[in-house]
Amino acid sequence: MKIKTITAIIAIIFMSNISAMAQKTIAKATKGKFLFGVAVNMQQVNGNNPIESELIAREFNSIVAENCMKPQPIHPQEDKYNWEDADKFVAFGEKNKQAVIGHCLMWHSQIGRWFFVDEEGKDVSPEVLKERMRQHIYTVVGRYKGRVKGWDVVNEAFEDDGSYRNSKFYRILGKDFIKYAFQFAHEADPDAELYYNDYNVETPAKCDAIVELVKELKAAGCRIDAVGSQGHMHMDDPTLEATETSLMKLKAAGVKVHITEWDISILPSPYSGANISTRFTYSKEMDPYREGVPDSVQQEWNKRVLDMFELFLKHNDVVDRVTLWALNDSTSWLNNFPIRGRKDYPVLFDRNNQPKSVVADMIMMAKKYKKKR
Ligand code: GLA
Repeated sequence: MKIKTITAIIAIIFMSNISAMAQKTIAKATKGKFLFGVAVNMQQVNGNNPIESELIAREFNSIVAENCMKPQPIHPQEDKYNWEDADKFVAFGEKNKQAVIGHCLMWHSQIGRWFFVDEEGKDVSPEVLKERMRQHIYTVVGRYKGRVKGWDVVNEAFEDDGSYRNSKFYRILGKDFIKYAFQFAHEADPDAELYYNDYNVETPAKCDAIVELVKELKAAGCRIDAVGSQGHMHMDDPTLEATETSLMKLKAAGVKVHITEWDISILPSPYSGANISTRFTYSKEMDPYREGVPDSVQQEWNKRVLDMFELFLKHNDVVDRVTLWALNDSTSWLNNFPIRGRKDYPVLFDRNNQPKSVVADMIMMAKKYKKKR
């Protein structure tokens, strides 16, 4: 055989492998059912680790910024905005033809203290806080008008018992701060989708409070497209039943559900939740898999992932997006939360950026489910 022919055959084999690989992603298998996204950090956006940047481009059709759009990093002082990272993040998503999600406009955490106080350090009046919210939301949403598909407008306004979190927003403006935030976001970009986002949405009292909020916002004429259920999960919590019930309640309230920060910690948990101010001390017993995960435990984790994923697929008429809160195990926040310095294995790609075996099962499962809309 001539060298040219051999080279051509090798090239064809190579190309067909690439295209076979390109077919087999969860994002492709869930297309038309829901978006499949990931939270990205600035190293990945900047291409410091090209393997990770390429993986994000290939495996996901939506991205959200892990940090750079939160109030503190983007607006550290009243008269100072940092656009560099957020601009690059949005351009990165556009380059990869991904749906770009904005996270988050109003949150009690990762927000400058200046937002709530005057020059003397005293709490500002309701009027001043409302005006600062307007300025912030108009400026951030306005800058990315038409480029960000949807915004987490308010993050984590409720406690797990369904009461309003006693945040500075709540203390100064009462629960209406949520309504104002949604109104301002809609004025700034009438075409952007708007979401309310929280953790432990599966907890009945909290879910009911969120349903009530959705009704109130709708009654006040506000746009709200979806509730973001963060989906920071453990091996036994939340149950499938509680998760399904929360999806049904939100569907009945007339909103979509986005699973916005999905991960399943494989480690023992000192508590359930994702309140980022809660920390516990390190002990070896709480960090059992430093040398690797035993096969039986890995199988249990795989099953947990598949069970949840199947629920999302079954309800793809209401579940509109599933986003993982880290590309791979080494970049997950769970290695340092709620205990610092542990080794967790909560997402779908391992520390070498290899897909876990469950990914192939998820693809097969997704192909079997029909589009419900
Ligand atoms: C919450 C926030 C996220 C992120 C995680 C921890 O869930 O919504 O932005 O900060 O905590 O990484």
